[in-house]
Order: sequence, then C-alpha cells, then structure tokens
Amino acid sequence: MSLKTEIDLNNLPKHVAVIMDGNGRWAKERSRPRVFGHSNGVKSVRDITECAAELGVSYLTLYAFSTENWKRPATEVNTLMKLFVQTVKKELKTLNNNNIRLKAIGNLKNLPKDTYESLIYGMKSTENNTRMTLTLALNYSARWEIVDAVNQVMNDANKYPEGVSHDQFESYLQTAHMPDPELMIRTSGEHRISNYLLWQLAYSELYFTDVLWPDFTKDDFYKAILSYQSRERRFGKTGEQVKK
Ligand code: FPP
Repeated sequence: MSLKTEIDLNNLPKHVAVIMDGNGRWAKERSRPRVFGHSNGVKSVRDITECAAELGVSYLTLYAFSTENWKRPATEVNTLMKLFVQTVKKELKTLNNNNIRLKAIGNLKNLPKDTYESLIYGMKSTENNTRMTLTLALNYSARWEIVDAVNQVMNDANKYPEGVSHDQFESYLQTAHMPDPELMIRTSGEHRISNYLLWQLAYSELYFTDVLWPDFTKDDFYKAILSYQSRERRFGKTGEQVKK
C-alpha cells in the first residue's frame, strides 16, 4: 500500500518549509563536482512541488540560497545562479499548467541581474495561480529579514506612537502573505535551523531525515507528513487542554 493512502487529508500542514541539504555530499559520493549534486537536486524540487500540490498543501517554501552561501567557491555560486534562471524558465509552463504561483523571498535586489529578472518574470507570469504557492528563499537569511523588518518599522515610526504589535511587525516580514509553516523538513542528517525562517518556525514541527536532497522522493515527503500527523501540537497548552 502506498504511504500516500495513510495520509489524513483533513490534517495537512498548510505550509511546509524545506531546507534542501546534502547536494554536495551526494555528488562527492559519486566522485562528481558539487554542482552535479545541485543539478540533480532540481529533480527533487520538481517531484516535491508536484507531490505537495497533489496532496493539497497550500504553501511550499524551499531554502535555495542563503546570504552565507556567497562564501562558496565562485564557480559553484555562478552555476547555482544559472541553475535558478534555467529552472525557473524551464518550469514556468508546468507551474502555470498546474495553477502554481511562484514567489521568492530574500534580498532579491542583490542577486545577479539575470537571476533577479527571471524571478520577477516568473512571479509576474504566475501571479494569478491559486492552487499552491511555491516560494524560493534566495539570498535569504532570517536575521537579515528581521533586521530589514526593523528598519522598515523605523521608517514608519510615526505610524506607531505606542510601538508595534506582534501582527504589525509580522506584516513587515518577507512572508507577510503566508501563514507560518506547521512543518519544517531538513534533509541530509543535519539537525540545525541555519538562519531559516527563525520568526516563522516558532511553533513548527521539525522533521529531520538522513536522506540527501537529490535522493529525496515523494515517499520521503509522505513520511514527513505522516510524522507531522502523529504529533500533538500544544502551543504552550497542556496535552489535556489540546485534546478537549
Ligand atoms: C545545499 O546542499 C543546497 C543548496 C545550497 C542549493 C539548493 C539548490 C538546488 C537544489 C537547486 C534548486 C533550484 C531551484 C530553482 C529551486 P549543500 O551544497 O550544502 O550540500 P552539502 O551539505 O552536502 O555540501
């Protein structure tokens, strides 16, 4: 029996965030350059996007490039940037055919011009799609996002004579248009958050798997959802209060 049939469709996370990790190690295991791992990671991006949309997940957010990733060798960074442009171009038709909206979060303006322009084009061409929002976190880090939000609030300081509320502050975050992720998946056996969605992951269930990202299949995604569904989410309450 497929794992998919075990999933309770009435208890799906609305938003799943993913740290796609392990591309470099996957390539190394095959004695290939790291970028070989990234290009094979695109297949998993495609499979998991399709799988999440088919299940009925509304938001899928993928950590594709962090503000720290610029420290990698220039050849790897350049190849990754090209891969983003190529993938967005190549997948646009499929995104539109499947009613999937493309979004990006991060310091986009500081990306290379062609990467920035392809993202803007991709977002514009899919902006009316409603089935699922696929968000790429690119040149993103949560600390950058929070400091950026603080700076925006300071610019608007005259609007908030009494200080900002939780909801007002959230409206300045990159993710203002989406709910917080109920589930965060990280591949490759690392048990860290790595500066990803620090505000938004406050109450998320965290799921770690040893599978390297290029090997991550639809069944691995179903396993993560099933693990999420087996957990009791308390939000600070007692188990008894939650069960009522
Ligand atoms: C982390 O693995 C992966 C990345 C920094 C890049 C992820 C990008 C892709 C999968 C391409 C996706 C394309 C689009 C359009 C979303 P790592 O290099 O840190 O692996 P390692 O820890 O084994 O070295």
